[in-house]
Amino acid sequence: MKLTATQIKLLSCMADGKFHSGQQLADEISVSRTSIWNYLSTLEENLGLTFHAVKGKGTRLKKPLQLLDEELIQQALSAESAQLLKKLLVLDVTESTNRYLVDPNNNLPKGTVCTAEMQSSGRGRLGREWVSPFAQNIYISFLWRFNVSLSSLSGLSLACGVQVCKALTKMGLTGHSLKWPNDILWQGEKLGGILVELQGENQGEYKAVIGIGLNYQMSEQAAQKIDQPWTSLASIMDNKMPSRNELTAELINQILPMLEQYSDTGLKPYQSQWNAYDGYRDKNVRIISGQNIKPGVAKGITNIGELKLLNEQGEIEKISSGEVSLRLDS
Ligand code: BTN
Repeated sequence: MKLTATQIKLLSCMADGKFHSGQQLADEISVSRTSIWNYLSTLEENLGLTFHAVKGKGTRLKKPLQLLDEELIQQALSAESAQLLKKLLVLDVTESTNRYLVDPNNNLPKGTVCTAEMQSSGRGRLGREWVSPFAQNIYISFLWRFNVSLSSLSGLSLACGVQVCKALTKMGLTGHSLKWPNDILWQGEKLGGILVELQGENQGEYKAVIGIGLNYQMSEQAAQKIDQPWTSLASIMDNKMPSRNELTAELINQILPMLEQYSDTGLKPYQSQWNAYDGYRDKNVRIISGQNIKPGVAKGITNIGELKLLNEQGEIEKISSGEVSLRLDS
């Protein structure tokens, strides 16, 4: 679904969360006063927004919105990222920003970044849905191409995890950690996740799409479908919150230079940083792979991104990510 120019104009007017009269809105977006109500109800229905009308005052959004703004994102980029960024797509509503970049019909260059206000079919790891309500969180994907062996890309998602943590630190957050392979946690609750999709292209070239989802200010209502403990920046950062545009730019600033260097360095320079952010180090865990459950103690990662698991026989086993998930042993 693509929002029309009129819908976007209306949303921008309403984004401040203040009361606007029907006449004022009609004048600002140049439509009739009666059609304003149709527009508002379509937006409520399709984007899950809630408007609140009070006689004599007008209508306001129940919660103000911070909309993504391409210009503000561009302005906050470092010189290095601005050079590496070949295309910035700021979409209203799309199925999935990863899917948009994976789609060969879109024929996009290395260095494309796609972000959206809402994903109608956001994808998570292990085939799960990624809950992606309108203008509440960050959904961002990066397209890069690598001329390296597939095995050397095994640590890419972990390097991204480190860079996301650095972006959050730079924005003033403390207390966040990583859960292997690449969940971003805050005090054990999920704050974000990373989904890397790889495709072989011509002559040993791989196209990588790296998608990052970060919970920014998700409402309880939108999060009803999430089946694990979760949190969002709004509930842990009080009034020191970066704007969605600042945070988006900082993610770009951290991720693009890493992608540029990754072919040469692999995960190695990020290994000790990953271990420093590891929230499960020395904890009793279970590795779950289908019906198989393997208990052990988490001991950090190897230089290609495998989890080191101290098993019940006292040996270090190396676990590669694929279709496995990690749980804390309670
Ligand atoms: C996980 O399951 O932890 C990974 C979640 C990744 C979600 C992001 S949001 C942007 C990008 N587009 C998607 O459809 N998924 C990723």
